[in-house]
Amino acid sequence: MLIFDEVITGFGRVGDAFAAQRWEVTPDIITTAKALTNGAIPMGAVMVSEKIYDACMNAAPEETIELFHGYTYSGHPVAAAAALATLDIYRDEKLFEHAREMETEWEDAVHSLASLPNVIDVRNTGLIAGIQLAPASQGVGKRGYDIFTRSFYDGVLVRASGDIIAMSPPLILESKHIDQAISTLEKAIKNAI
Ligand SMILES: Cc1ncc(COP(=O)(O)O)c(C=O)c1O
Repeated sequence: MLIFDEVITGFGRVGDAFAAQRWEVTPDIITTAKALTNGAIPMGAVMVSEKIYDACMNAAPEETIELFHGYTYSGHPVAAAAALATLDIYRDEKLFEHAREMETEWEDAVHSLASLPNVIDVRNTGLIAGIQLAPASQGVGKRGYDIFTRSFYDGVLVRASGDIIAMSPPLILESKHIDQAISTLEKAIKNAI
């Protein structure tokens, strides 16, 4: 059984609808959320192979469902409308293609941070990046949080996961946004504890 959690990587982030397609791997299950509605309305979705669907839905005798599974808000009309509208915009504005066009510039920009003080690794794929910092003497996660706070007050929202700065910029990203994000982060890293 191969399960891809595509909550972050799904819907264009790696320049294709799913990372599974970009890397030509077909998992048995894909989980998604976030960009399914552009994060505007809460919604998640799980895609499964026919075999798994049949085992859950069609294996029980008569009218019963083998794995009964329901939520109050399953298939909520507002969420469904938001998802459909979002998917239309992705297609009409060619945002997955745009993400792929921007990925090399993004990659070069994030790797320009590699030689800054306390940066011990820079990782990226598609429009995603992780900048790993050495923990400060004040404690694990303190440097990451300090960089997060400094960037926030300078107008750039990054995610601090311990001492790793995680970034996944909007798919409408342009060169000027990359410049803003990277220069702000550079300043924060240089000034951080
Ligand atoms: C990779 C990944 N999977 C799953 C989740 C959880 O998603 P949800 O909050 O929609 O349950 C997150 C949330 O950040 C995530 O980053």
